Amino acid sequence: MKEKPWYETSFDEFYLDLDKFAHSPEGSRKEASDAIALLGIRERSSVLDLCCGQGRHSIAIAEFGHEVRGLDLSKRMLDAARAHQLAAGVDVTWIHADMRDIPAGLELDAVLSLYQSFGYLEHRNDDLEVLKAIRAALATDGRLLLQVPNRDAVAKDFWQSRFTLLPDGSHLGEVRQFDPASGWLRLTMTIFRDGSSQRREFRIRLYNASEIEQMLISAGLRLVQVSASLSGAAFNLDSDRMVVVASKVT
Ligand SMILES: C[S@@+](CC[C@H](N)C(=O)[O-])C[C@H]1O[C@@H](n2cnc3c(N)ncnc32)[C@H](O)[C@@H]1O
Repeated sequence: MKEKPWYETSFDEFYLDLDKFAHSPEGSRKEASDAIALLGIRERSSVLDLCCGQGRHSIAIAEFGHEVRGLDLSKRMLDAARAHQLAAGVDVTWIHADMRDIPAGLELDAVLSLYQSFGYLEHRNDDLEVLKAIRAALATDGRLLLQVPNRDAVAKDFWQSRFTLLPDGSHLGEVRQFDPASGWLRLTMTIFRDGSSQRREFRIRLYNASEIEQMLISAGLRLVQVSASLSGAAFNLDSDRMVVVASKVT
């Protein structure tokens, strides 16, 4: 039997456990507000949070008054998203699907892919298929906001391993390998807690800004702006991440 791809098994309790230390509700709300400002969309826009995870941005964007859908492949992440949404008392439509399978006919004002959820799929062409699916889901004047690691900066200041004390007294070990030929970054994360350990592997294909621009063109999208952050900081070789805004070529 064919082994499941890594991204179908790594986003579970382990990820949620670490995510609570990595992102605060206030920080996620600020990211969502910055992303909406960078996109420059109108009030009550229709927005898709692609690879929404536990909905930390989807719910905030719904609270700002937009009509939000959150799509993710992990049932565990969507269950967490639904629980947060019910507690927040806002409407969000949750879609359980692969990022290539955005439902047809949505005519969206905006698609967001936040944090680092692009570059997981087996082949480069699969990543291109994601961009094509986004294009197909956008209204004529719709916009994409894509946040990804900046391959140039990751390669320039590459670290192989680190060990961090987490706020609950457990430890996180991270070991990374980067293959410059394929662009794959592999990350093994291990949580050491109460004398036992739990491990997951994550992989992401890294792109630099010019590769992303080329892929956007191939998907029928046009690069509007590249920034280093959701608040629009200037992008350069030291920027860990890039935030790309793109529009649809019609
Ligand atoms: C790093 S998390 C980011 C989640 C969210 N955007 C955030 O900022 O908290 C990546 C998410 O992508 C989802 N994912 C992974 N592969 C996917 C796929 N092929 N299709 C849809 N979602 C996927 C995972 O389940 C996970 O929730």
